[in-house]
Amino acid sequence: MDAADMGDDLAEIIITEEQIKTRLREMAAQIDADYAGREILLVGVLRGAVMVMADLARALHTPLEMDWMDISSYGSGTKSSGVVRILKDLDSDVTGRHVLIAEDIIDSGLTLSWLAGNLRSRGAASVEIAALLRKPEVAKVEVDVTYVGFDIPPEFVVGYGLDYAEKYRNLPFVGVLAEHVYNR
Ligand code: PRP
Repeated sequence: MDAADMGDDLAEIIITEEQIKTRLREMAAQIDADYAGREILLVGVLRGAVMVMADLARALHTPLEMDWMDISSYGSGTKSSGVVRILKDLDSDVTGRHVLIAEDIIDSGLTLSWLAGNLRSRGAASVEIAALLRKPEVAKVEVDVTYVGFDIPPEFVVGYGLDYAEKYRNLPFVGVLAEHVYNR
């Protein structure tokens, strides 16, 4: 899928495919240096993290295993309520493992803050976060994100794992969705 397939649903491309690739390589180099001599349990949060998991994992040299969680916020009616339930848990036991959570985006921070705490409470040796995108202006809680790709403005972004009504995850870039799409 590319920009032409979106027609006027795309307002602008804010991070190109090339920029994502370059930044993920830089993040991987940093992670490799930090985890020298250790093994990583790379945890992806379905579904948005699929692209980051695939590309970050391939850029890393550190030995790693990949596992997945599916979680969903519930309780308050808003997506990022911070009240989370596990729809699919990890298959791995995290006890004593060095967990690196790979995410597409940190918005309010509530999901990741909960998840990092949850994995720490299971006895992981360490829990760090690598997120391609972060929206600092909408953060509701401080999340200690060790590896961040890009800080972006509080726009409705799609692509590279991020969806609008489950569409556009397969765009190779990150783009801003035109307002008329979600206001119609
Ligand atoms: C997105 C993203 C994070 C979460 C971040 O997932 O992948 O998991 O929202 O939001 P927060 O910082 O405000 O908690 P979403 O719930 O949209 O599910 P998806 O990954 O299936 O798209």
